[in-house]
Amino acid sequence: MKPYVISHMLGSVDGRIKQDIWGFKDHHKYFEETAARIKADAWLVGRTTMQEFSSKTVPPLAKGRVNIPKEDFVAEKVSKTYAVVIDPSGKCFWDTNMVSTEQVIEVLTEKVSSRYLEHLKATGVSYIFGGTTELDLKLVLKKLYRLFGIKILRIDGGGHVNGSFLKAGLIDEFSLVLAPVADGTIGSPTVFEAEEGYGKRKATRFTIKSAKRIYDDFLWIRYLVLKGRNVR
Ligand SMILES: NC(=O)c1ccc[n+]([C@@H]2O[C@H](COP(=O)([O-])OP(=O)(O)OC[C@H]3O[C@@H](n4cnc5c(N)ncnc54)[C@H](OP(=O)(O)O)[C@@H]3O)[C@@H](O)[C@H]2O)c1
Repeated sequence: MKPYVISHMLGSVDGRIKQDIWGFKDHHKYFEETAARIKADAWLVGRTTMQEFSSKTVPPLAKGRVNIPKEDFVAEKVSKTYAVVIDPSGKCFWDTNMVSTEQVIEVLTEKVSSRYLEHLKATGVSYIFGGTTELDLKLVLKKLYRLFGIKILRIDGGGHVNGSFLKAGLIDEFSLVLAPVADGTIGSPTVFEAEEGYGKRKATRFTIKSAKRIYDDFLWIRYLVLKGRNVR
């Protein structure tokens, strides 16, 4: 079993996601107030996005010989909901095991050091392994369901994490808050960063579940992913 996966994003009309030059006051509210209306057991982000919330300093790591087996670690449950980060090399450090009201889960590969695992254990941060050197995102979803009871997962970006779940065919629904702005910055991440160039991959098709005008000129569009025989 795997969670039902909803990707939620705030995007410009040209699909850009960094809001540095958009000029909206209270720009966080457009993403957060809509996200709060999607019921989920956890939200998940990429390492780059999570570093906006994790510790800004690297704590002193344990000295001497440390040998911690590369096995999943489930810390004592202290919240109803979770904040999950895809962090294959263990680059996020933590002062606490919470982001706001959500308990942190690190998704790692076996590339990480025992010292890093000790840091997570000492801070009470749960971690799971999603592969040896590369992540198997289907396995990651199965573990989130089985070990933490996550039945609905909201993926909150950025573009690279969205793109990798899209490419793996693991997104069920896409929730787009479309901002009335054209960004135009070449090379800035877009809503889905899946692959360079055109290969054999086909684009993912959607059908509209709902569409609403919000905050005067924004649109909130919820799409269902068309899979297999639903695509004509
Ligand atoms: N507008 C919005 O709604 C919204 C929402 C969220 C974020 N953002 C913005 O988006 C920007 C960041 O987006 P981003 O696309 O650059 O980064 P991102 O998706 O947040 O993180 C990318 C990183 O996550 C790890 N990762 C993701 N998928 C992986 C996979 N399948 N396998 C292995 N590693 C994987 C890699 O970490 P390593 O590099 O450590 O290997 C990768 O470099 C930030 O400016 C943030 O503020 C906007």
